[in-house]
Amino acid sequence: MIKKCLFPAAGYGTRFLPATKAMPKEMLPILTKPLIQYGVEEAMEAGYDVMAIITGRGKRAITDHFDISYELEHQIEGSSKEGLLKEIRHVIANCTFTYTPQLQMKGLGDAIHKGKVLVGEQDPFAVILADDLCVNLDGDGVLKQMTKLYAKYKCCIVAIMEVPAEDVDKYGVIEGSEIEEDVFMVSNMVEKPDVDKAPTNLAVIGRYILTPDIFSMLENTKPGKNGEIQITDALCEQAKKGMVVAYKFKGRRFDCGSVDGFVEATNYYYNLEK
Ligand code: G1P
Repeated sequence: MIKKCLFPAAGYGTRFLPATKAMPKEMLPILTKPLIQYGVEEAMEAGYDVMAIITGRGKRAITDHFDISYELEHQIEGSSKEGLLKEIRHVIANCTFTYTPQLQMKGLGDAIHKGKVLVGEQDPFAVILADDLCVNLDGDGVLKQMTKLYAKYKCCIVAIMEVPAEDVDKYGVIEGSEIEEDVFMVSNMVEKPDVDKAPTNLAVIGRYILTPDIFSMLENTKPGKNGEIQITDALCEQAKKGMVVAYKFKGRRFDCGSVDGFVEATNYYYNLEK
């Protein structure tokens, strides 16, 4: 079973300035819960219990969130407010959290590579980008769906969705052949292609299951789009060997890295709770 889930969380979150000047973007709340906690709970549902977080400067709030706050806990003990800590207490009691910094912002591929010390080189692991908030009310969460697929294909799995043709330049895009319903054997991947050059409109979203040989691929990956080390480029090398499967997941994804997506997610969860 795969137990470790990596959370690249070193980015600056410039689209949310000034909110993210001193606060990590992963701590922005949808209603009362920070984005990264949604991600951690999705991983727990899929059976993961080691959460490996790639941090950066100014990210202390993430570490504090997944730690006991003695003073606060003592203050509200026995009061009507105590119930509000139920979920986070459950998370803390059932997971191990590990951290390492990404010293320079050299891209998602570099961030994932930094995770090698946390997840090791023996086992496959998952990656969640917390600002892609995924929800599936009708059944398994997205990472759980992917983890089941991993058991069948035993290779890298990426989550994909169809996006409008004019949006493909915001994503990693795959090309491949459908081998079963909603499952594609990937033959090519391009990071943020020009709209008129994209092979398809099948966009990768922030959920991956990676086999540990991705680390040696990343060591040989040259800076790509925007001068950054791209996970898409390392995965493309795997894809050429028939080792990447793309999965059109069941559920919804909100791009909480953008203000529009963030507001949409907020409204969605608000209406659910009402
Ligand atoms: C990253 C990846 C991209 C992927 C996207 C999903 O881009 O590089 O391939 O499609 O996440 O959210 P970013 O949004 O960090 O620029």
